[in-house]
Order: sequence, then C-alpha cells, then structure tokens
Amino acid sequence: MNLDFTQIVPYIPFMLEGIWVTLGFVIISIILGFFIGALIALIKISNKKFLKWIADFYTSVFRGTPLILQLMIVFYGIPQLLDYDVSPFLAAVLTFGLNSSAYVSEIIRAGIQAVDKGQLEAAQALGIPYSQTMVKIILPQAMKNILPALMNEFITLTKESAIVSVINYLDLMRRAQVVGADLYRNFEPLLFVGTIYYIMVMILTLLGKLVERRLRQSD
Ligand code: ARG
Repeated sequence: MNLDFTQIVPYIPFMLEGIWVTLGFVIISIILGFFIGALIALIKISNKKFLKWIADFYTSVFRGTPLILQLMIVFYGIPQLLDYDVSPFLAAVLTFGLNSSAYVSEIIRAGIQAVDKGQLEAAQALGIPYSQTMVKIILPQAMKNILPALMNEFITLTKESAIVSVINYLDLMRRAQVVGADLYRNFEPLLFVGTIYYIMVMILTLLGKLVERRLRQSD
C-alpha cells in the first residue's frame, strides 16, 4: 500500500480555502434558485395557459439536460455568443441557480397541489380572498411537503457543485485535483476534500432533520 498523508500537510490551508469558495457560490445559487423557483411555481399553479407552457418548457430543459453541459454552455458558449467573458463564479451561480430553480419550482408546485382541494373550496365558500387563503391556509400546510424536499435539493446542489472543477473554478474539488497533480498522488487530497464534503452534507442533513422535527411539533 502506498499512502502518505504527511505530504498533503503543506497543502491543507489551500484546500481548506476551497470550503469558502464552494460555500460562497452554493449559498448564492440556493437563494437565486429558491426565488426564481418560487416564481415559476406560482406561474405553474396559475391559470395563465401560455405562461404555464413556458414555465413547463423551462423546467423540462433544465431537468432534461446534464448540469455539466449547462455549465459549459454558460462558461464557454456565452462568451462566443455575446462577446462577454463570464467569470467562473458568475457561470457557476447562473447555472446552478437556474438549474436549481427548475427543481425548486416542481417541489413547491407539488407541495401546494398536494394540499387537499377541500381546503381551498372551504375557504372560497367562506368568502376568504384568494391571496389570504393561500398565505394563511394553503401555504402553512404545503410547507410540510416543501421544506424536507427543499433541504434535499440543497444537499444535491452542494454535492453537484463539484462539477465547477471542469471550468477550472478553484472550489474544493478543483483544489484536490491541483494538489494531486502537484504531488503525483491523488488519493490523499481526494479523500481529504471528500471528508469535507461529507461533513458539509451531514450538517445540512442535521439541519433538515431539525426542520422536520419542528414541523411535526407544530402538527
Ligand atoms: N447530475 C444531474 C445532472 O447532471 C444533477 C442535476 C441536479 N440538479 C439539482 N438541482 N437537483 O443533471
């Protein structure tokens, strides 16, 4: 066996810096994805036929093509098309934000539509306005379906973020590759950042469990 973790020691600060790079663009992508996704979900549950068609098409394109391809189109394709050099950060945030919004829109739409129709009908029968019905009656119940699925989406996005290494963005993953190339040994740096990803995902999982418990208590 050929293992020597002492060799990566000088590179540890360099790899740890990747945590902030990864967290930085993942958090912004999550926020962007959430707001765009919520907007698209609203369109999907509305009765505007044409807008709904566009929203469905948008979702199917982002879910129907590989994320790595979308990232490369934004990073390499846009400069060719618009004569504008996209930074790796901007390419990552745009791609991950838009991609995630497609998934988030489905999570929110399904969560809202899973609330029993009788709730809406009862509110209408009582003469409660639509906006109030939504905010005070439907959404609080939909949250129970939406939040756990959203936490899952955040975890997926955190792990998928590693593909920004293909556009040479110095995130955690790319840093492990750089160190591996420098040392001619890949196992140790890969295992090192792998552990960091795992810890990040475990923290998110824990947060998800806390949220779920909170929701159950409010039942
Ligand atoms: N590997 C999948 C793809 O390339 C992951 C997409 C996941 N995206 C998400 N936001 N859940 O399409």
